Amino acid sequence: MSAYPHAVSAGWFPIATSRKLRGKPLARMLMDTPLVVFRGENGPAVLLDSCPHRNVALSAGCVRGNDIECPYHGWRFAADGRCTATPGAISPATQRARAMPVIERAGLIWTTLGTAPFPCLPPIISAPGFDQFWWEIPSSRAGLADAVENLLDPAHPHFLHPGIVRSAKIRRPVDVTVRFQPDHAEAIYVENSRPSAWMPRLLEGVRTIGIGRFMPPSTAQLIFEGPDGVRLAISVFFTPETATSVRPFAHFATPRRLAPAIIKRALLIAFHVPVLRQDQAMLRKQTENIARLRRANYALGPLDPLRPAITALMAGDTLAAAEQRLTLYL
Ligand code: FES
Ligand SMILES: [Fe+2]
Repeated sequence: MSAYPHAVSAGWFPIATSRKLRGKPLARMLMDTPLVVFRGENGPAVLLDSCPHRNVALSAGCVRGNDIECPYHGWRFAADGRCTATPGAISPATQRARAMPVIERAGLIWTTLGTAPFPCLPPIISAPGFDQFWWEIPSSRAGLADAVENLLDPAHPHFLHPGIVRSAKIRRPVDVTVRFQPDHAEAIYVENSRPSAWMPRLLEGVRTIGIGRFMPPSTAQLIFEGPDGVRLAISVFFTPETATSVRPFAHFATPRRLAPAIIKRALLIAFHVPVLRQDQAMLRKQTENIARLRRANYALGPLDPLRPAITALMAGDTLAAAEQRLTLYL
Protein backbone atom coordinates (compact mmCIF):
# COMPACT_ATOMS: atom_id res chain seq x y z
CA MET A 1 0.00 0.00 0.00
CA SER A 2 1.27 3.46 -0.85
CA ALA A 3 2.39 5.69 2.00
CA TYR A 4 0.81 8.61 0.16
CA PRO A 5 -2.84 9.64 0.22
CA HIS A 6 -4.95 8.22 -2.59
CA ALA A 7 -5.31 11.32 -4.80
CA VAL A 8 -1.56 11.92 -4.44
CA SER A 9 -0.39 8.39 -5.28
CA ALA A 10 -2.68 8.37 -8.33
CA GLY A 11 -1.84 11.94 -9.34
CA TRP A 12 0.13 13.55 -12.15
CA PHE A 13 2.92 15.89 -11.04
CA PRO A 14 5.35 18.26 -12.74
CA ILE A 15 8.96 17.14 -12.51
CA ALA A 16 10.67 19.86 -14.56
CA THR A 17 9.92 23.05 -16.40
CA SER A 18 10.09 22.82 -20.18
CA ARG A 19 12.60 25.66 -20.01
CA LYS A 20 15.02 23.72 -17.83
CA LEU A 21 14.80 20.45 -19.76
CA ARG A 22 17.25 21.01 -22.58
CA GLY A 23 20.28 18.89 -23.48
CA LYS A 24 21.12 17.29 -20.14
CA PRO A 25 19.03 14.65 -18.42
CA LEU A 26 17.69 15.63 -15.00
CA ALA A 27 17.53 13.42 -11.91
CA ARG A 28 14.25 13.78 -10.02
CA MET A 29 12.37 12.02 -7.24
CA LEU A 30 8.66 11.32 -7.19
CA MET A 31 7.17 9.65 -4.13
CA ASP A 32 10.41 7.82 -3.25
CA THR A 33 10.98 6.74 -6.84
CA PRO A 34 14.12 8.08 -8.55
CA LEU A 35 13.37 9.22 -12.08
CA VAL A 36 15.36 10.55 -15.00
CA VAL A 37 13.71 13.00 -17.34
CA PHE A 38 15.33 13.84 -20.66
CA ARG A 39 14.39 15.48 -23.92
CA GLY A 40 14.91 13.25 -26.92
CA GLU A 41 14.44 14.42 -30.51
CA ASN A 42 10.76 13.40 -30.37
CA GLY A 43 10.06 15.03 -27.02
CA PRO A 44 10.45 14.45 -23.31
CA ALA A 45 10.74 11.00 -21.72
CA VAL A 46 10.71 9.77 -18.13
CA LEU A 47 12.37 6.52 -17.02
CA LEU A 48 13.22 4.96 -13.69
CA ASP A 49 16.64 6.44 -12.96
CA SER A 50 18.41 3.11 -12.93
CA CYS A 51 20.01 1.19 -15.75
CA PRO A 52 18.59 -2.35 -15.72
CA HIS A 53 22.11 -3.67 -16.40
CA ARG A 54 24.05 -2.67 -13.25
CA ASN A 55 21.74 -0.09 -11.67
CA VAL A 56 23.78 2.98 -12.50
CA ALA A 57 21.79 6.23 -12.59
CA LEU A 58 20.84 6.97 -16.19
CA SER A 59 20.68 10.66 -15.26
CA ALA A 60 24.52 10.57 -15.17
CA GLY A 61 24.51 9.61 -18.86
CA CYS A 62 23.77 11.61 -21.99
CA VAL A 63 21.03 12.03 -24.51
CA ARG A 64 21.75 10.46 -27.93
CA GLY A 65 19.10 11.36 -30.50
CA ASN A 66 15.90 9.95 -29.07
CA ASP A 67 17.57 7.79 -26.45
CA ILE A 68 19.47 8.06 -23.22
CA GLU A 69 22.87 6.39 -22.92
CA CYS A 70 24.08 4.79 -19.69
CA PRO A 71 27.53 6.11 -18.69
CA TYR A 72 28.86 2.66 -17.58
CA HIS A 73 28.66 0.26 -20.58
CA GLY A 74 26.78 2.50 -22.98
CA TRP A 75 23.45 0.70 -23.21
CA ARG A 76 20.88 3.01 -24.74
CA PHE A 77 17.20 3.23 -23.90
CA ALA A 78 14.31 4.75 -25.83
CA ALA A 79 11.46 6.77 -24.32
CA ASP A 80 9.37 3.59 -23.97
CA GLY A 81 12.20 1.90 -22.03
CA ARG A 82 13.32 -0.42 -24.86
CA CYS A 83 17.07 -1.08 -25.03
CA THR A 84 18.11 0.18 -28.48
CA ALA A 85 21.87 -0.42 -28.34
CA THR A 86 24.29 -2.61 -26.40
CA PRO A 87 27.81 -1.70 -27.51
CA GLY A 88 29.87 -4.77 -28.50
CA ALA A 89 26.84 -6.95 -29.24
CA ILE A 90 25.14 -7.55 -32.62
CA SER A 91 21.68 -6.90 -31.23
CA PRO A 92 20.61 -4.92 -28.20
CA ALA A 93 19.81 -6.50 -24.85
CA THR A 94 16.18 -7.43 -24.35
CA GLN A 95 15.91 -5.92 -20.88
CA ARG A 96 13.95 -2.70 -20.60
CA ALA A 97 14.18 0.34 -18.39
CA ARG A 98 10.92 1.17 -16.64
CA ALA A 99 9.18 3.99 -18.51
CA MET A 100 6.62 6.37 -17.01
CA PRO A 101 3.88 8.24 -18.86
CA VAL A 102 4.91 11.76 -19.77
CA ILE A 103 3.08 14.86 -20.99
CA GLU A 104 4.44 18.31 -21.69
CA ARG A 105 1.75 20.87 -20.91
CA ALA A 106 1.56 24.50 -19.78
CA GLY A 107 5.34 24.90 -19.66
CA LEU A 108 5.93 21.83 -17.47
CA ILE A 109 6.88 18.18 -17.91
CA TRP A 110 4.37 15.96 -16.07
CA THR A 111 4.48 12.33 -15.07
CA THR A 112 2.64 9.88 -12.82
CA LEU A 113 3.34 6.64 -11.00
CA GLY A 114 -0.34 5.74 -11.36
CA THR A 115 -2.40 4.65 -14.34
CA ALA A 116 -5.00 7.41 -14.59
CA PRO A 117 -5.15 9.48 -17.80
CA PHE A 118 -3.82 13.02 -17.76
CA PRO A 119 -6.38 15.18 -15.93
CA CYS A 120 -7.70 18.66 -16.64
CA LEU A 121 -5.12 20.97 -15.12
CA PRO A 122 -6.14 23.40 -12.43
CA PRO A 123 -6.45 26.74 -14.17
CA ILE A 124 -3.46 29.04 -14.10
CA ILE A 125 -3.80 32.57 -15.35
CA SER A 126 -2.53 32.42 -18.89
CA ALA A 127 -4.76 35.04 -20.50
CA PRO A 128 -3.22 37.21 -23.25
CA GLY A 129 -3.33 40.29 -21.01
CA PHE A 130 -0.94 38.75 -18.49
CA ASP A 131 2.82 38.36 -18.24
CA GLN A 132 3.68 35.01 -16.77
CA PHE A 133 6.60 32.80 -15.88
CA TRP A 134 7.51 29.61 -14.04
CA TRP A 135 9.86 29.66 -11.09
CA GLU A 136 11.35 26.23 -10.34
CA ILE A 137 11.99 26.37 -6.61
CA PRO A 138 14.60 24.11 -4.99
CA SER A 139 13.25 21.19 -2.96
CA SER A 140 12.02 21.97 0.53
CA ARG A 141 12.16 19.65 3.50
CA ALA A 142 8.46 19.40 4.28
CA GLY A 143 5.49 17.09 4.21
CA LEU A 144 3.20 17.72 1.24
CA ALA A 145 0.14 18.91 3.21
CA ASP A 146 2.34 21.07 5.45
CA ALA A 147 3.95 22.75 2.43
CA VAL A 148 0.58 23.40 0.75
CA GLU A 149 -0.88 24.74 3.98
CA ASN A 150 2.12 27.03 4.49
CA LEU A 151 1.38 28.84 1.23
CA LEU A 152 -2.31 29.27 2.05
CA ASP A 153 -1.91 30.04 5.77
CA PRO A 154 -2.94 33.62 6.68
CA ALA A 155 -1.73 33.36 10.29
CA HIS A 156 2.05 32.99 10.06
CA PRO A 157 3.22 36.00 7.96
CA HIS A 158 2.95 38.38 10.95
CA PHE A 159 5.46 36.21 12.81
CA LEU A 160 7.61 34.71 10.09
CA HIS A 161 7.67 37.54 7.52
CA PRO A 162 6.96 40.62 9.71
CA GLY A 163 6.90 43.85 7.75
CA ILE A 164 7.42 42.00 4.45
CA VAL A 165 4.13 40.14 3.92
CA ARG A 166 2.07 41.41 6.89
CA SER A 167 2.83 44.01 9.53
CA ALA A 168 3.67 42.57 12.94
CA LYS A 169 2.01 45.57 14.62
CA ILE A 170 -1.03 46.55 12.56
CA ARG A 171 -3.93 44.15 12.39
CA ARG A 172 -7.19 44.95 10.66
CA PRO A 173 -10.48 43.04 10.65
CA VAL A 174 -10.91 41.03 7.44
CA ASP A 175 -14.16 39.30 6.45
CA VAL A 176 -13.39 35.82 5.25
CA THR A 177 -15.61 33.43 3.34
CA VAL A 178 -14.39 29.84 3.36
CA ARG A 179 -15.97 27.88 0.55
CA PHE A 180 -15.90 24.12 0.08
CA GLN A 181 -16.70 22.60 -3.29
CA PRO A 182 -16.55 18.90 -4.25
CA ASP A 183 -13.14 19.31 -5.92
CA HIS A 184 -11.56 22.34 -4.24
CA ALA A 185 -11.60 24.59 -1.21
CA GLU A 186 -10.90 28.29 -0.96
CA ALA A 187 -10.78 31.19 1.45
CA ILE A 188 -11.75 34.63 0.20
CA TYR A 189 -10.40 37.57 2.18
CA VAL A 190 -12.16 40.92 1.69
CA GLU A 191 -9.43 43.41 2.52
CA ASN A 192 -10.20 46.72 0.75
CA SER A 193 -7.11 48.45 2.07
CA ARG A 194 -3.53 49.35 1.39
CA PRO A 195 -1.53 46.33 2.56
CA SER A 196 0.22 46.75 5.91
CA ALA A 197 3.61 45.44 4.72
CA TRP A 198 6.01 46.59 2.00
CA MET A 199 5.96 43.67 -0.44
CA PRO A 200 2.22 43.58 -1.22
CA ARG A 201 2.12 47.39 -1.08
CA LEU A 202 4.77 47.59 -3.76
CA LEU A 203 3.40 44.76 -5.89
CA GLU A 204 -0.32 45.46 -5.58
CA GLY A 205 -0.98 48.99 -4.29
CA VAL A 206 -4.50 48.56 -2.90
CA ARG A 207 -5.74 45.04 -2.27
CA THR A 208 -9.48 44.56 -2.49
CA ILE A 209 -9.64 40.77 -2.31
CA GLY A 210 -7.21 37.94 -1.66
CA ILE A 211 -8.06 34.32 -2.49
CA GLY A 212 -6.26 31.21 -1.23
CA ARG A 213 -7.37 28.05 -3.03
CA PHE A 214 -6.46 24.37 -2.86
CA MET A 215 -7.03 21.89 -5.66
CA PRO A 216 -6.00 18.24 -5.35
CA PRO A 217 -3.69 16.52 -5.57
CA SER A 218 -1.40 19.39 -4.49
CA THR A 219 -2.01 22.75 -6.16
CA ALA A 220 -2.28 25.92 -4.12
CA GLN A 221 -3.21 29.26 -5.60
CA LEU A 222 -3.00 32.81 -4.26
CA ILE A 223 -4.85 35.48 -6.19
CA PHE A 224 -4.70 39.13 -5.22
CA GLU A 225 -7.11 41.62 -6.71
CA GLY A 226 -7.11 45.40 -6.77
CA PRO A 227 -9.88 47.79 -7.83
CA ASP A 228 -9.24 47.02 -11.52
CA GLY A 229 -8.95 43.23 -11.30
CA VAL A 230 -6.22 40.65 -10.69
CA ARG A 231 -2.89 42.22 -9.74
CA LEU A 232 -0.93 39.07 -8.97
CA ALA A 233 -1.72 35.36 -9.23
CA ILE A 234 0.62 32.71 -7.87
CA SER A 235 -0.15 29.05 -8.61
CA VAL A 236 2.12 26.50 -7.01
CA PHE A 237 2.20 22.83 -8.01
CA PHE A 238 3.89 20.86 -5.23
CA THR A 239 5.57 17.61 -6.27
CA PRO A 240 6.07 15.09 -3.45
CA GLU A 241 9.62 13.74 -3.71
CA THR A 242 9.50 11.76 -0.48
CA ALA A 243 7.25 11.89 2.59
CA THR A 244 9.38 14.78 3.88
CA SER A 245 10.51 16.56 0.72
CA VAL A 246 8.58 18.59 -1.85
CA ARG A 247 9.60 20.38 -5.02
CA PRO A 248 7.40 23.39 -5.77
CA PHE A 249 6.78 24.72 -9.28
CA ALA A 250 5.48 28.26 -8.99
CA HIS A 251 3.66 30.12 -11.77
CA PHE A 252 3.40 33.91 -11.51
CA ALA A 253 0.98 36.01 -13.54
CA THR A 254 0.70 39.80 -13.51
CA PRO A 255 -1.29 42.13 -15.78
CA ARG A 256 0.65 43.26 -18.81
CA ARG A 257 1.40 46.86 -18.00
CA LEU A 258 3.89 48.85 -15.98
CA ALA A 259 7.31 47.20 -16.19
CA PRO A 260 8.53 44.87 -18.96
CA ALA A 261 8.01 41.16 -18.25
CA ILE A 262 11.71 40.41 -17.77
CA ILE A 263 12.08 43.12 -15.12
CA LYS A 264 8.95 41.96 -13.32
CA ARG A 265 10.23 38.39 -13.32
CA ALA A 266 13.52 39.45 -11.77
CA LEU A 267 11.75 41.65 -9.19
CA LEU A 268 9.11 39.09 -8.24
CA ILE A 269 11.74 36.41 -7.70
CA ALA A 270 14.04 38.79 -5.80
CA PHE A 271 11.16 39.85 -3.52
CA HIS A 272 10.00 36.30 -2.89
CA VAL A 273 13.42 34.74 -2.21
CA PRO A 274 13.71 36.00 1.40
CA VAL A 275 10.11 34.97 2.13
CA LEU A 276 10.73 31.56 0.60
CA ARG A 277 13.87 31.11 2.69
CA GLN A 278 11.96 31.93 5.89
CA ASP A 279 9.18 29.50 4.96
CA GLN A 280 11.63 26.76 4.00
CA ALA A 281 13.54 27.16 7.26
CA MET A 282 10.33 26.91 9.29
CA LEU A 283 9.04 23.93 7.31
CA ARG A 284 12.38 22.21 7.90
CA LYS A 285 12.12 22.84 11.66
CA GLN A 286 8.56 21.56 11.65
CA THR A 287 9.51 18.43 9.70
CA GLU A 288 12.50 17.70 11.94
CA ASN A 289 10.40 18.05 15.03
CA ILE A 290 7.70 15.78 13.64
CA ALA A 291 10.43 13.20 13.01
CA ARG A 292 11.58 13.61 16.62
CA LEU A 293 8.03 13.08 17.87
CA ARG A 294 7.46 10.18 15.49
CA ARG A 295 3.72 10.80 15.73
CA ALA A 296 2.29 14.27 15.37
CA ASN A 297 -1.18 15.56 16.10
CA TYR A 298 -2.32 18.77 14.46
CA ALA A 299 -4.52 21.09 16.53
CA LEU A 300 -7.01 22.97 14.39
CA GLY A 301 -6.99 26.63 15.38
CA PRO A 302 -9.59 29.24 14.47
CA LEU A 303 -7.43 30.39 11.51
CA ASP A 304 -7.04 26.89 10.02
CA PRO A 305 -10.37 26.18 8.30
CA LEU A 306 -8.68 24.92 5.10
CA ARG A 307 -6.49 22.20 6.61
CA PRO A 308 -9.19 19.49 7.01
CA ALA A 309 -10.29 20.16 3.42
CA ILE A 310 -6.70 19.85 2.15
CA THR A 311 -6.30 16.50 3.94
CA ALA A 312 -9.65 15.19 2.70
CA LEU A 313 -9.09 16.22 -0.94
CA MET A 314 -5.59 14.70 -0.91
CA ALA A 315 -7.15 11.47 0.35
CA GLY A 316 -9.37 11.46 -2.74
CA ASP A 317 -12.59 12.48 -0.95
CA THR A 318 -15.06 14.92 -2.44
CA LEU A 319 -16.25 17.73 -0.21
CA ALA A 320 -19.85 18.57 0.57
CA ALA A 321 -20.56 22.06 -0.81
CA ALA A 322 -20.63 24.47 2.11
CA GLU A 323 -19.74 28.01 3.08
CA GLN A 324 -18.47 29.44 6.32
CA ARG A 325 -18.00 33.09 7.26
CA LEU A 326 -15.64 34.46 9.84
CA THR A 327 -13.79 37.61 10.79
CA LEU A 328 -10.04 37.44 11.25
CA TYR A 329 -7.59 40.10 12.36
CA LEU A 330 -4.81 40.07 9.78
S1 FES B 1 25.25 -0.29 -15.92
FE1 FES B 1 24.26 0.66 -17.55
S2 FES B 1 25.14 -0.19 -19.27
FE2 FES B 1 26.01 -1.29 -17.65
FE1 LIG C 1 5.16 32.20 4.49
